[in-house]
Amino acid sequence: MAIERSAAKRPNWSSGFAFIMATLGSAVGLGNIWRFPYVMGQNGGALFLLMYILLTIFICSVPLLCELLLGKQMRRGVIRSYEKINKKFSAFGWLCFITSIFIPCFYFVVGGWTVNYIFIYLFGTIPVNEISQATFETFAAQPVAPLIMGIIFLVLCAIFPFRGVNKGIEQANNIIMPLFIIMLFFLAVTGLFLPNSIEGLKFMFAPDFSKFTFTTVLTALGQALFTLSVGMGCLVTYGSYLKKDSDIIKSSGLLIIGNTIIAVLAGIMIFPAVFSFNLEPSAGAGLVFITLPKVFAALPFGQFFGLMFFVLLFFAALTSGISLLEVSIAAILEKFKISRKLATVIMSSIILVFMFPTTWSFGFLSGYKMFNMTFFEVMDFTASNILLPLNTIILCVVVGWILKPKMELLTNNKKFYDVFNFLLKFIVPPILILLMLFGLGLV
Ligand code: TRP
Repeated sequence: MAIERSAAKRPNWSSGFAFIMATLGSAVGLGNIWRFPYVMGQNGGALFLLMYILLTIFICSVPLLCELLLGKQMRRGVIRSYEKINKKFSAFGWLCFITSIFIPCFYFVVGGWTVNYIFIYLFGTIPVNEISQATFETFAAQPVAPLIMGIIFLVLCAIFPFRGVNKGIEQANNIIMPLFIIMLFFLAVTGLFLPNSIEGLKFMFAPDFSKFTFTTVLTALGQALFTLSVGMGCLVTYGSYLKKDSDIIKSSGLLIIGNTIIAVLAGIMIFPAVFSFNLEPSAGAGLVFITLPKVFAALPFGQFFGLMFFVLLFFAALTSGISLLEVSIAAILEKFKISRKLATVIMSSIILVFMFPTTWSFGFLSGYKMFNMTFFEVMDFTASNILLPLNTIILCVVVGWILKPKMELLTNNKKFYDVFNFLLKFIVPPILILLMLFGLGLV
């Protein structure tokens, strides 16, 4: 009875637009703008892009639909959704819950960096042409400043789930995502007008087959899962606020297309500029924070462009951060029947504690290594290479073999449903298992 009443109170997205903006907000994040370009840079450019698109369409779309379907059918967060299938599956929900603590621990640190760069470009605390690699390294190595920036970012993310699904999460995404898209178009088009920008485009769009290795496939798959927010119940949670008659196939199609276009536009915004100023495209994680400031230093109105770029990066990170938090908030709120506000405070505090060592991984803890990785890298590696694929495999097996989701929640086309089920049960899990084992060097 109590559960029935809480189900009746469950918030719903107020429109299809709100749902698309929220899922797109979750998907488009540091993964598209910070990670995608540099991973593409290190993996042979266009070939990586091609692999990424193929894997997204043929592999990742299946668990993506599966997450939405699970949420839509159960109308619960990730822990209760698994428990409703079978009490014994509780642990699978908790595994997603743990993942949703691991990812923010490093994601929010990078979010804090974007806040810092906004301050630098906004107030001109460092002259634009003096922002360098040293600026980044000195900042990240400090004990207090990056922590404060990370906390600012965490609080800004937490405000929205704190206010609720409709008044908080939905409003944030409805406003920020359209703004983000306009800014991205503007910066990408500006990048095309730079001298020599064609080199950047060639790098992105002309495949170099000699660089094709198994690692390319693996990295592309990991990137595709991460950027679509698949593998920790984000889409289960967002899907649980859907009405029964909403069309998740159409939404997923839009999500995949929108997310890919945005990643490509992010590349178009970055690579022509990088090539135009003869900088190194495979600079790694520092590409956005170290290489791009050199571009802004050389551009007319560099301070304006720099500010705009980091606001854009911040927006992307913010809407993803909101979705990351919402997973654990929704999960404990209904599991322990506490208020949304209390759940937000509890989860933010837990994440905050873990943000100390990840932040300090760039400073005085940089020498402390486990498996040759800093604490930041351990959290990233464990979450992205172990937990996300593992959760995705479990999801496909449990939903495909045990839950057998209701067809009418997905489609009324029997053929489509059969193909989906076949991929879900027989194709996607073995591929994911194989790739995960290869990725961990176990095969
Ligand atoms: N997709 C986001 C990005 O590209 C990050 C993200 C948000 C995420 N929610 C997630 C990644 C859930 C994995 C799982 O930056």
